[in-house]
Amino acid sequence: MEWGMKNRLSRLIQADGKALFLPIDHGYFQGPTHKLEKPGETIKPIVQYADAIMLTRGVLRNCVNPAIPKPVILRVSGGTSVVGEDLANEAITTSIQEIIRLNASAVSMSVFIGSKYEHQSLTNLANLVDVCEDYGIPVMAVTAVGRELEKRTARYLALCCRIAAELGARVVKTYYCEENFEKVVEGCPVPVVIAGGPKTETQREVFDFVYDGMQKGAIGVNLGRNIWQTEHPVAAIRAIRAIIHDNYTPEEAQSLFEQVKAGKA
Ligand code: 5RP
Repeated sequence: MEWGMKNRLSRLIQADGKALFLPIDHGYFQGPTHKLEKPGETIKPIVQYADAIMLTRGVLRNCVNPAIPKPVILRVSGGTSVVGEDLANEAITTSIQEIIRLNASAVSMSVFIGSKYEHQSLTNLANLVDVCEDYGIPVMAVTAVGRELEKRTARYLALCCRIAAELGARVVKTYYCEENFEKVVEGCPVPVVIAGGPKTETQREVFDFVYDGMQKGAIGVNLGRNIWQTEHPVAAIRAIRAIIHDNYTPEEAQSLFEQVKAGKA
């Protein structure tokens, strides 16, 4: 692996082999998502606990201080919306010149396997990998399901992760599933990070799935709404960080969450 690629990956995946990515890219198809109306304000108290932020060029340029000491994963696919015909009909929306100009440590894009636009999103991935590899920029593939959340079974996710890795993704972001998640990770020759999904009823559910996913081989998370849409985002991200980097159990994470919430940690 080239020095530049290694250097960028080492900024994202920490020395312990683990990673906590904080995505705030939701507006690229959802508009002003709840609690992300002002993304720059949303991340202020929590970004210090993340290993990287994931966002589009528009939010990066307009809402984030260029002196931010965190690496950037630039979301470079889009072109659809929640009120449009099909979320899977994405294109690559950002040029390699812009990716370099914005000093991205990685780029991310979605693939929609099993959808009408499967071929388009997979060839988008392969082409993006070709362009980015020339400059030592890692591509993180996002295995997206659009509105079909019920698709998130181990069999389907394993298929998606493997295909994304085969086409050259350096990291794959996928959903967690309760059954056989280890098969998803085992079948994927590149590191897997877990997406959060819609906000859960309780914070403990998040600690449980992050912990279980890590036990089953994920290297970390790319988790947004279950941090910044919660009542206590600092407590949430600190507890999740403790699971990822300090091997906390869900019980220990819950206890840290309560302490931070109460201003005792
Ligand atoms: C949207 C994304 C998001 O980054 C991803 O879904 C993670 O965020 P959340 O934890 O809120 O689901 O890629 O397509």
